[in-house]
Amino acid sequence: MTDKTYPPSPEMAANAHINAAKYEEMYASSVADPIAFWAEQGKRIDWIKPYTNVRDVSFAKEDLHIRWFDDGELNVCANCVDRHLPARADQTAIIWEPDSPDTPAQHITYAQLHDKVQRFANVLKELGVGKGDRVVIYLPMIPEASYAMLACARIGAIHSIVFAGFSPDALADRINDSEAKVVITADHAPRGGRVTPLKSNADAALLRCEDHVKCLVAKHTGGQTTWVEGRDYDLGAMMEAAATDCPPEPMNAEDPLFILYTSGSTGKPKGVVHSSGGYIVYASMTHEITFDYHDGDVFWCTADVGWVTGHSYIVYGPLANGATTLMFEGVPTYPDAGRFWEVCAKHKVNQFYTAPTAIRALMGKGTEFVEKHDLSSIRILGTVGEPINPEAWNWYNDVVGKGKCPIVDTWWQTETGGHLLTPLPGATATKPGSATTPFFGVEPIVLDPQTAEEITTTEAEGVLCMKQSWPGQMRTVWGDPERFYDAYFSQYPGYYFTGDGCRRDADGYYWITGRVDDVINVSGHRMGTAEVESALVAHAKVAEAAVVGYPHEIKGQGIYCYVTLMDGVEPTDALRTELSNWVRTEIGPIAKPDVIQWAPGLPKTRSGKIMRRILRKIAENDVSSLGDTSTLAEPAVVDDLIANRGG
Ligand code: WT7
Repeated sequence: MTDKTYPPSPEMAANAHINAAKYEEMYASSVADPIAFWAEQGKRIDWIKPYTNVRDVSFAKEDLHIRWFDDGELNVCANCVDRHLPARADQTAIIWEPDSPDTPAQHITYAQLHDKVQRFANVLKELGVGKGDRVVIYLPMIPEASYAMLACARIGAIHSIVFAGFSPDALADRINDSEAKVVITADHAPRGGRVTPLKSNADAALLRCEDHVKCLVAKHTGGQTTWVEGRDYDLGAMMEAAATDCPPEPMNAEDPLFILYTSGSTGKPKGVVHSSGGYIVYASMTHEITFDYHDGDVFWCTADVGWVTGHSYIVYGPLANGATTLMFEGVPTYPDAGRFWEVCAKHKVNQFYTAPTAIRALMGKGTEFVEKHDLSSIRILGTVGEPINPEAWNWYNDVVGKGKCPIVDTWWQTETGGHLLTPLPGATATKPGSATTPFFGVEPIVLDPQTAEEITTTEAEGVLCMKQSWPGQMRTVWGDPERFYDAYFSQYPGYYFTGDGCRRDADGYYWITGRVDDVINVSGHRMGTAEVESALVAHAKVAEAAVVGYPHEIKGQGIYCYVTLMDGVEPTDALRTELSNWVRTEIGPIAKPDVIQWAPGLPKTRSGKIMRRILRKIAENDVSSLGDTSTLAEPAVVDDLIANRGG
């Protein structure tokens, strides 16, 4: 082994579902005979009508299709709720921990969840929602968010969650693109002691949507809202009045379960479509195996249900496994930097899963915030969302895990539905910063970006693709199958292209080096530079804009904007603030620029293409290696940008 490695402890290897020998054996069989492997794994789910076709996949342009278990029928909600009732009716399904530690937590049992979800499903039916209809969910991290997801799944409606930090415009775009019938929101959303007027954001969004879109409103803080008679509906009152019984709708395995919008390298965010059968098999299996989940464990994923991590590892994976899953409304630093650890101690969390950006933010606050809480219940630590720097990894390992908890660095994407590269706690010797090795059935390959040839040596550096499908793979882009092909299968025909670069070391471990396209990763949130650019140029004073990522100590990457103003517009600090706030309102707080540099000109090729490579180098302050600038239309603009770096 190269690098410093952390092998699983003997106890972990002995007690975990999967040890090293089992991983080797199972991985080999999963790629040698994937049909037999997944035929067996599919049985972890209850099927109304069993499948006989396990896999039917082609990545070819003329015939692109991805189908798993496609003659089977199931209901995802019944798998997450009803099937646990005989053994676990009184077990807690969801622990809800509110924003403020002064508000009591809630424990929702499987029996209570069953009641809530059935009532919620009946409310949706009353609003005219049926199988195949779309429902947009724009909620804080409250139990109603899980009820809403499961209620949709129960009646076969397709949910599309919009992160509550997104702006009214972003919400409207998603309601319109998915042609949703209903948007579910709440009065206000408290987070970190501050309150977002969620319902009034929804009101603003709905001004841009069709008149028939209905708004279902959960009362959360009791804060004031305006009410549009005939359009707005009171969720609490309707649930109270609703019939308590709602049978689950039998769904085909390939019926969509949800749409989740995510940023791409071009244009508007795309609606990633996930299936019912393959997705739930994969979410459930990865949750159990990656986190070595055992009956009775309390599992906490700190993500928001507005991201795929929340879909797969707060709601669907854990509940499919009959787990107790913790849902947290707040932020890591409120009321202080000990909040995560206080919650872990209070609820005796066994698996804790968070993002490197949160770890970096907490690291800076000192170890005393960790040390004053009893973290002895934690067995496994996980990270996701971006590469973890070794310093943060070591802090997580030493200070949080006391050197006793394996860290699973899980690499995956909105598109993949669940983990594709990850260590397994009882099987894999970890290396800080590496997502290590593939999950069962996953066949990563490294391609040379210039020649598009596979690099077959163990040590390799290039772009990361997948050779084979896995059940959790996205099925299409909502309403745009051509974009599905173009974004993922056109660059390297025959393979799924991840958009990430990677290195494979002499031990066959994968190290993600970051995106190779115009997608940036800000605090673990994915952002298309094109989206920020189009928000900037929508401002009357902006003529042109180019946006790139640059290394940021806490956020991983920050947002660096080069802005060319309209003729005659004065570049002032006040305008800089105005533009920054403008982007924030157009997209949401997560898109707020970190740096705005005035750019009298942008480096372009003679054909007018912006040379982002140069802009990235300047933003990174790596101007010694700008490469060849002779093909630029106006080489002098580069000197100006270098001289005025940083704004
Ligand atoms: C992109 C996907 C999937 C959950 C959250 C993000 C980056 C994700 C890791 C990791 C290095 C990672 C990749 C990927 N990424 N996990 N463990 N190590 N990079 O989902 O918003 O779809 O973003 O996040 O660049 O392509 P997403």
